Amino acid sequence: MNINIVILAAGRGSRMFSELPKVLHPVGGKAILGRVLDTALSLNPAKIIIIYGYKGQLVKDSINQSYPENKFTWVLQEEQSGTGHALRCALPHLDLQAATLVLYGDVPLLNPATLAQMITQYKHNMVMLTAKLSDPSGYGRVMRDTQGMITKIVEEKDASASEKQINEINSGVYLISNKHLSGWLSNLTNNNSQHEYYLTDIVGMAHSDEVSVDWVETQHLNEISGVNDKTQLESLERAYQHSVANKLLQQGVTLADKARLDVRGSLTIGVDCSIDINCIFSGTVVLGNNVTIGAGCILHNVTLGDGVQVKAYSIIEGAVAKANAQIGPFARIRPGTNLAENVHIGNFVEVKNTTIGEGTKAGHLTYLGDANIGSQVNVGAGSVTCNYDGKNKWSTTVEDNVFIGSGTMMVAPVVIKSGGVIGAGSTITKNTEANELTVARSKQATIKGWLARKNKK
Ligand code: UD1
Ligand code: CA
Repeated sequence: MNINIVILAAGRGSRMFSELPKVLHPVGGKAILGRVLDTALSLNPAKIIIIYGYKGQLVKDSINQSYPENKFTWVLQEEQSGTGHALRCALPHLDLQAATLVLYGDVPLLNPATLAQMITQYKHNMVMLTAKLSDPSGYGRVMRDTQGMITKIVEEKDASASEKQINEINSGVYLISNKHLSGWLSNLTNNNSQHEYYLTDIVGMAHSDEVSVDWVETQHLNEISGVNDKTQLESLERAYQHSVANKLLQQGVTLADKARLDVRGSLTIGVDCSIDINCIFSGTVVLGNNVTIGAGCILHNVTLGDGVQVKAYSIIEGAVAKANAQIGPFARIRPGTNLAENVHIGNFVEVKNTTIGEGTKAGHLTYLGDANIGSQVNVGAGSVTCNYDGKNKWSTTVEDNVFIGSGTMMVAPVVIKSGGVIGAGSTITKNTEANELTVARSKQATIKGWLARKNKK
């Protein structure tokens, strides 16, 4: 079926009290409008038309940047004269033989399966998405005749006391035959309490024209809920996180508490993984099998191999760790870090733009930046790659099987040759020799009688 999707997104979103346009606020780490577009794209439509208004250029630029492969038709609605007027702006772009699916740019959690159901119902007529709510206030109400056919929608602000009692509401999602649509849209008027062109009036027009109005009723309020303020944003964020956590549990991931997990991107997980409380995953995170993530960890764009253990309160960004690596607690792994198998990064260790070979250990209080560190190296506590001279960054190489004593300063550029031992407290400014002990610190001395002479005075 040939579908045109029109996304109404001209709303100002003033109740967000934000400089950022409403539809660019994130849910699950992705712009609200981005979520709507993903749903739209999953239906493979012939066209996607976005009606925009407030701070439109910002919305356009941000979305076009996130979707370089897709071409959307952007139509400006200069004045917000109602949902009917908004759809009318799209008219010149609609294909006569197609059906138009109307979505809202501020409703992020609409399920593609629900839309597929609407498409199945469609018979060149009009299909709308409805719901029954215990508290329908604020929504347009669905009016039916004695046969149960939908006859019209009445907006809350125009509804009589008895109409307000009706708890079946209009979600604002419709699938409409374009053959009928253009005529109906040009007949809209704004004779109502809000002086707006209501898109909902076309339901009454369809009924008058004897075009059947079909419906799909959703049981899930979250999928039709829009974001108007920060309270609704938070509530849909929680709903989204709840559904992500449930999916992970269904896949067999062990979660200490499904309410204390946040995924703001994509998280792919192997078998027998466990995640303790208060962890945040963002960007693209891939975990192998048997990975354990301790409490309070934050992972952004990370790939971890089988058996990797990330201990509590570690922050890892833009890094890869191979099988059985151990990280943390309290480790900070920054972009460009590659850890080979069985590497051990302990507490208060920061690693940046550094490759570390198999079995190497840096257990405590260390900074490794712009370095290439071989396998089976031991980096003693408090060792630092001095990679910055105030102007430029320089690299440090530590070859295989080196033992670096505690408190070693490696002043880059410098190479610590393989098998060497560096005495604790050394400041290494020149390349060292392989398989030799290098010590670079002042000699220890005892000044005989000094204390006694001092005490006599
Ligand atoms: C609309 C429906 C109502 C339904 C409710 C569901 C109408 C007249 N009413 O009401 O029956 O129950 O949605 O949430 O359609 N927009 C524009 N341009 C405009 C006006 C709105 O692009 O001129 C966009 C908004 O950005 C928003 C969407 O259309 O994404 C809905 O607008 P909103 O004002 O929230 O509709 P409601 O009055 O709540
Ligand atoms: Ca309104």
